[in-house]
Amino acid sequence: MNSTKPEELFEGAYPFVHLMMQYRCAMQEVQTKLEVLNTELSLDQEHNPFESISGRIKKPISIFDKLKKMNLPVSIGNIEQNLHDVAGIRVICTFQKDIYILAEKLCAQDDIRLLARKDYIKNPKPNGYRSLHLILEIPVFFAEGKKYMQVEVQFRTIAMDFWASVEHKIYYKKAINCNTAQITEKLRLCAEHINGIAMELEDISKEIEIQKEYGCPEGHVKEK
Ligand code: GTP
Ligand code: MG
Repeated sequence: MNSTKPEELFEGAYPFVHLMMQYRCAMQEVQTKLEVLNTELSLDQEHNPFESISGRIKKPISIFDKLKKMNLPVSIGNIEQNLHDVAGIRVICTFQKDIYILAEKLCAQDDIRLLARKDYIKNPKPNGYRSLHLILEIPVFFAEGKKYMQVEVQFRTIAMDFWASVEHKIYYKKAINCNTAQITEKLRLCAEHINGIAMELEDISKEIEIQKEYGCPEGHVKEK
């Protein structure tokens, strides 16, 4: 009896392994571009625009499930044409303004093609989810030639990441039998709170920058 699960068969197939290698390379290219921007932009300001960066390749089982959900046969062609987040990068920024600076500088690079942009910061999801999502296409130079590969980049602040990480663990896409509208509203309120605090901190940071440049009001010298 053959007990191999379909997703395991898929995982062991050479064309699949080869495609995942290509996505990994594309992810490395975009990650390097962001790290270069981070290094350069840190020279002009006193903090790094991002706190951390991480990348992941979508798990075979998630690829399998997503194609099934789209009613598409599992094939190399369908992965490449229909899944835009096989290679994913998450950038956690200190401040919201850094997100837009980094995204703009990245998209302005002439080898990058911006395929889609979803601004869940300006337009949060009903549950309060906030992040900037970009689907990019980038040329990768392999031994057999150049190939355009797609990479999803998610930018969020530390506060947005705190909320999204907890929400992901407790609720996102989980089939839970509960009062969805009530939970969504509670989650939205939590997102509003945490984001409000983050924006206040960002305002304080701006105030400090202004005082450093133009001097602080008389008699107000920071105690050491
Ligand atoms: P996926 O099928 O999950 O990729 O969603 P999508 O193709 O409809 O795209 P969308 O831009 O809505 O979400 C892409 C990714 O953003 C998700 O895989 C999550 O990593 C993240 N995300 C989107 N919405 C939420 C949310 O409500 N909560 C959390 N925690 N993460 C979210
Ligand atoms: Mg996804």
